[in-house]
Amino acid sequence: MAKDTGRKATLALDGKNYDFPIYSGTLGPDVVDIGKLYAQADVFTFDPGFTSTGSCESAITFIDGDKGELLYRGYPIDQLAEKSHYLEVCYLLLYGELPTVAQMEDFEGRVTKHTMLHEQMKNFYSGFRRDAHPMAVVCGVVGAMSAFYHDSTDINDPWQREVATIRLIAKLPTIVAWAFKYANGQPMVYPRNDLSYAENFLHMCFAVPAETYEVSPILSKAMDRIFTLHADHEQNASTSTVRLAGSSGANPFACIAAGVACLWGPAHGGANQACLEMLREIGSVDKVGEAVARAKDKNDPFRLMGFGHRVYKNFDPRAKVMKESCDEVLGLLGIEDNETLKVAKELERIALEDEYFIEKKLYPNVDFYSGIILEAMGFPTSMFTPIFALSRTVGWISQWKEMVEESSRIGRPRQLYTGPTARDYTDVAAR
Ligand code: CMC
Repeated sequence: MAKDTGRKATLALDGKNYDFPIYSGTLGPDVVDIGKLYAQADVFTFDPGFTSTGSCESAITFIDGDKGELLYRGYPIDQLAEKSHYLEVCYLLLYGELPTVAQMEDFEGRVTKHTMLHEQMKNFYSGFRRDAHPMAVVCGVVGAMSAFYHDSTDINDPWQREVATIRLIAKLPTIVAWAFKYANGQPMVYPRNDLSYAENFLHMCFAVPAETYEVSPILSKAMDRIFTLHADHEQNASTSTVRLAGSSGANPFACIAAGVACLWGPAHGGANQACLEMLREIGSVDKVGEAVARAKDKNDPFRLMGFGHRVYKNFDPRAKVMKESCDEVLGLLGIEDNETLKVAKELERIALEDEYFIEKKLYPNVDFYSGIILEAMGFPTSMFTPIFALSRTVGWISQWKEMVEESSRIGRPRQLYTGPTARDYTDVAAR
């Protein structure tokens, strides 16, 4: 719970002073509660892009952008990536503590038993064009879940909220893998309960009925780490979208579909696809300088995808772990000589030494390396963002649950209106 510090922030406006309470959390900057500003002083705050606005109170994830620190429920991301695994991290994010052996077994069992989709949901896939982007398919199918699982859409019933949570975490891998299979023109592969979460996802993506598919332990470890590193990230654009959608009382499946839609943009989760496509477009090490020059040119909209972050201004701790995994996976797969990788390494080297990037604190983010690993694992670029969505589902649903359990007020921002003032309608003949 936030603590009232007893301190006040005073706003002096038109000869009057207005006091606002200052609260402390457990970490991070204090906040000024301006909830009564409009009622008292008849003005709004103005912060497009929310650079100085805390939209909610949350006890799930903490980021210190200057230190490059990311904590899930207090645990540093690098420790979780090294010592934990995705489903344990899911439990931690959802329930606040690391599970005991019995709690983990129970949770894993429940997730595993919900991996199948209602058989009729398969029909949705055939309604899409084969060349549809898998994010379009995932967005549609996740939204359609509310048409199939009516018994878990009552947000006021804790049991239904729990069932919806388990269903989303369990079924997203199946939904994403089937979008991949559909695009490939291959038969959908059903989930297997004897496999781990990451193994099962790889199995559903890469197995075909004609032969046996052995899941590589290297790839399943890398997959699990990618899931873990993307599991939650505080109040980013898609999470805020999920919270805003949820604040109206919309059901959890509809809210997560909204999160998927927001994640798709290239400034957010779509950056992993955009980054790899950019590396391919640069094509060779000798063209890297040209790309860096374009990124610095104010008159050119080109940006280095996979660089920069709204919050991290030192380094992205996820990128650090992802880079290690990237080296490990490529080494184990024997792909050190890949041209895309060479371009990535040269781009990273030049950008990290360049005054423009240093001054603007632009570092490689998680998406810079994840695409390289995913490509090495055999995924096409169009699957990168759906894999991000699958991983982030637990973060979205944890944040949604926290919000539903703690507040019931609809989110309703205000605006600075700059349109026409009131005017009379004119008949068409007089225009
Ligand atoms: N390449 C070149 N210049 C950049 C870049 C970049 N990737 N990112 C920011 N800048 C410049 C920008 O032009 C601006 O310069 P100036 O001050 O001269 O106008 C300055 O840096 C600040 O940029 P901003 O757009 O105001 O920063 P932001 O906090 O609003 O945006 C960002 C953050 C991540 C959207 C942005 O850095 C970006 O577009 N990066 C590329 C896309 C990307 O990799 N996104 C993934 C983010 S991590 C995963 C996730 O969150 O989903």
